[in-house]
Amino acid sequence: MNDVKPDSSTKQTVTLTDNSTGKSIELPILGGTVGPRAIDVRRLYAETGCFTYDPGFTSTASCDSAITYIDGEVGILMHRGYMIEDLAEHSDFMDVCYLLLHGELPKKDEKAAFERSITYHTMLHEQMNYFYRGFRRDSHPMAIMVGVVGAMSAFYHDSTDISDPHQRMVASHRLIAKMPTIAAMAYKFSVGQPFVYPRNDLSYAENFLYMTFSVPCEEYKVSPVLARAMDRIFILHADHEQNASTSTVRISGSSNANPFACIAAGCASLWGPAHGGANEAVLQMLQEIGTKDRIPEFVERAKDRDDPFRLMGFGHRVYKNYDPRAKVMQKSCHEVLGELGINDPLLEMAMELERLALQDEYFIEKKLFPNVDFYSGIILKAMGFPTSMFTVLFALARTVGWVAQWREMIEDPSQRISRPRQLYNGQTKRDYVPLDQR
Ligand code: CMC
Repeated sequence: MNDVKPDSSTKQTVTLTDNSTGKSIELPILGGTVGPRAIDVRRLYAETGCFTYDPGFTSTASCDSAITYIDGEVGILMHRGYMIEDLAEHSDFMDVCYLLLHGELPKKDEKAAFERSITYHTMLHEQMNYFYRGFRRDSHPMAIMVGVVGAMSAFYHDSTDISDPHQRMVASHRLIAKMPTIAAMAYKFSVGQPFVYPRNDLSYAENFLYMTFSVPCEEYKVSPVLARAMDRIFILHADHEQNASTSTVRISGSSNANPFACIAAGCASLWGPAHGGANEAVLQMLQEIGTKDRIPEFVERAKDRDDPFRLMGFGHRVYKNYDPRAKVMQKSCHEVLGELGINDPLLEMAMELERLALQDEYFIEKKLFPNVDFYSGIILKAMGFPTSMFTVLFALARTVGWVAQWREMIEDPSQRISRPRQLYNGQTKRDYVPLDQR
């Protein structure tokens, strides 16, 4: 599947000419099933001595993949050919996990077997509880996630042999199953409450809410509205092709590192405010703005090139049209707040900010629309999560995407270690200067 070859039926090529020497090279153009074609530059260095230069990878396809397709110009996101809107409306997260991992929506018996496997992997090795105690109580839960997920490789040795398909599958199921437990424990640790063990009679989303919000001294009933909203948030964050954290997972995995270490690397990358940390940053920004009348001032600041301030939750590297996930999230946000009877002034501010930004020339011209993180923070706040947990929830949901992409890469027979090159612009060779002469 991953053996991408030039489209021999049409033999599309591009000719590149070095104008200083007049030497030309003909390069094949690769076609996928849908989306932009890619110029195959694999022979370029060997035949011309030149690299391609593309920091930030804005014009580079780093791999071929059959998992997720995005058309950022139109605002389309599909997993294995299914539109995200349809999945959010008709599927649950377990369906989507199966789809991402196996390529098809599960049949009834397949789904039951998958859910059973995930349910029976939710408990953590008891020794891991002690691991938490090494952290400061005020640690950011993402700092705990990076540490604990990485530490899984010290606990689950029997699923670190990446050459064994069975071990790869077990590691994948363990990661998807244990992330909610790890995330809930990070929260419990930060608020000084006892860890709550998972329950097998609850769905994936219900179980996560139960482990996060219940306490041993009273009964906790999981709200079906919140469970559905949580499940939908997980679906909307499940995968997003070759974003920074997924590329990090793939690059880490390309050296044959174990899956737990690779997913910990993904968590680290996701944590940044330009990526998964944006949902936390949106809430901080709305709180900083404070009142509706101050919004124009902040919009002006966002437009000022000399001011580093950016509107968090706006803009996307790929979407130059409305992020389809943001639309579903906006609808979900209204539903949740309506059901909970919450009238959050932050939501009103968010809507006003969206309204003003969407009619502003700067944002129109640069095609800066609200992204998925713009609304997710408001829903999560209404559900009772502290802002520091927002990125943790993103990591939890994205784990299946990371795992699916990691497995696709490992199972590709042509896979090689990722080793980009550089355009060196440092000192040229010079004589060593002894210490007393410097
Ligand atoms: N507010 C104001 N100006 C912006 C913003 C923004 N949020 N985003 C981009 N711009 C401007 C930017 O200053 C630049 O202007 P100019 O052409 O004058 O230099 C232009 O738009 C292009 O921006 P860029 O930074 O070159 O675009 P990028 O593709 O490298 O960055 C981004 C994409 C998402 C990092 C960026 O839009 C951003 O920082 N947004 C705010 C953070 C955010 O919401 N991140 C969540 C992304 S979605 C979830 C995820 O993927 O994890």
